Amino acid sequence: MYRQNSVDTPQRKEGGSYVIEENESREAKNTCIIFSPNNDRAGILAKTLKIFNDNDVNLVHIESRSSTRGPGYEFFVECDSRSGSLGTAIEQLREECTYLNIISRDYKDNTAAVPWFPRRIRDLDRFANQILSYGSELDSDHPGFTDPVYRARRKYFADLAYNYRHGQPLPRVEYTKEETETWRVIFNNLTELYPTHACKQFNHIFPLLIDNCGYREDNIPQLEDVSNFLKDCTGFTLRPVAGLLSSRDFLAGLAFRVFHSTQYIRHPSKPLYTPEPDVCHELLGHAPLFSDPEFAQFSQEIGLASLGAPDDYIEKLATCFWFTVEFGLCRQGDELKAYGAGLLSSYGELQYCLSDKPEIREFDPEKTGLQKYPITEYQPVYYVADSFEDSKEKMIKYANTIPRPFGVRYNAYTQSVDILDSKPQIANLMNNINLEFSVLQNAFRKLKA
Ligand SMILES: [Fe+2]
Repeated sequence: MYRQNSVDTPQRKEGGSYVIEENESREAKNTCIIFSPNNDRAGILAKTLKIFNDNDVNLVHIESRSSTRGPGYEFFVECDSRSGSLGTAIEQLREECTYLNIISRDYKDNTAAVPWFPRRIRDLDRFANQILSYGSELDSDHPGFTDPVYRARRKYFADLAYNYRHGQPLPRVEYTKEETETWRVIFNNLTELYPTHACKQFNHIFPLLIDNCGYREDNIPQLEDVSNFLKDCTGFTLRPVAGLLSSRDFLAGLAFRVFHSTQYIRHPSKPLYTPEPDVCHELLGHAPLFSDPEFAQFSQEIGLASLGAPDDYIEKLATCFWFTVEFGLCRQGDELKAYGAGLLSSYGELQYCLSDKPEIREFDPEKTGLQKYPITEYQPVYYVADSFEDSKEKMIKYANTIPRPFGVRYNAYTQSVDILDSKPQIANLMNNINLEFSVLQNAFRKLKA
């Protein structure tokens, strides 16, 4: 669930803060340090850990493994940033190490630190509930603000997501008659427009969702079924979220091909309007395209580019996301078609975006990332992609301009992100690519024979 591009400026509201504070106190203030001692004598771990002890820094997690950056071991420690003299401990540790990297949620107070980011898919659990507002908090102008039944339902959905952990099946929900009726109105209106307004990839996939995931006018599909379908197609999965995530956290999910999704539906009084993303937006707008391999790769590139990026680049990447995954148009033949989820889930804007009213520009991450946009009205400007492949190439080039002292690579076998910042790692990666290349060469030779 993602709506705004305000980066790390939580618009916290009264009453929802209990969700945030519990996590901040336990996890958000932790600092992670990865280091390789400058010798691998027996007892070196005890010697380096003594530095933390001498400076009264509490350690909450320790891992050791063979270093991928050279001979010997490397250690990963997670410490409580607020205990003892962490700065002094880091300086002393630096003298004992050939390699040291600091990753912290508190990066603003620590100029040597890289902003914390998840390294493994299960790390998404660690920020899943650090949300900017809880899903049951409604603004006074929300259509459901004065409806106690709707508010209770919203709390039910927020609690489901709040208690979700990586690896569990996604919660199945029995939608009420009234909720299904709201879905019916939206489903019937939008499916009328898709053949003429949606991109060909969307129209290719949509019938498969009808056949495989229960997309019907009288049924709201279950996140679990859609997530399993996406996983089979591209490895993308859905994950329920209890409220609005920061741009940094939301984009980090994409690096692991995880899309944070709402599960509640908009208020029945206004079926064709919603002030925030709901299950119609996620399942009709987003889900179909995540099963397209090119689009999935493009989305993941935005996510990978965001890991450890400085705040101003997070804002630019979130803006690129807005003008592509949310509100993107693409050129197909001589025509423009919609592929953005904000368009494919809005009966009004889907027609408006292809009219002669809005301004159309070419997608260029460097310029697009700076464009201002409204969040409560139709977009005055849309950006056009030549193809998802082309947008992906542009995004990869743009990612290379982001200042961060390492490269990242997604390891699909372990669903984890490798930080690339040493020659041995890069040489190892090249060997793997050579191996894959020889598989291609052999297959090609057989074809020729
Ligand atoms: Fe969205």
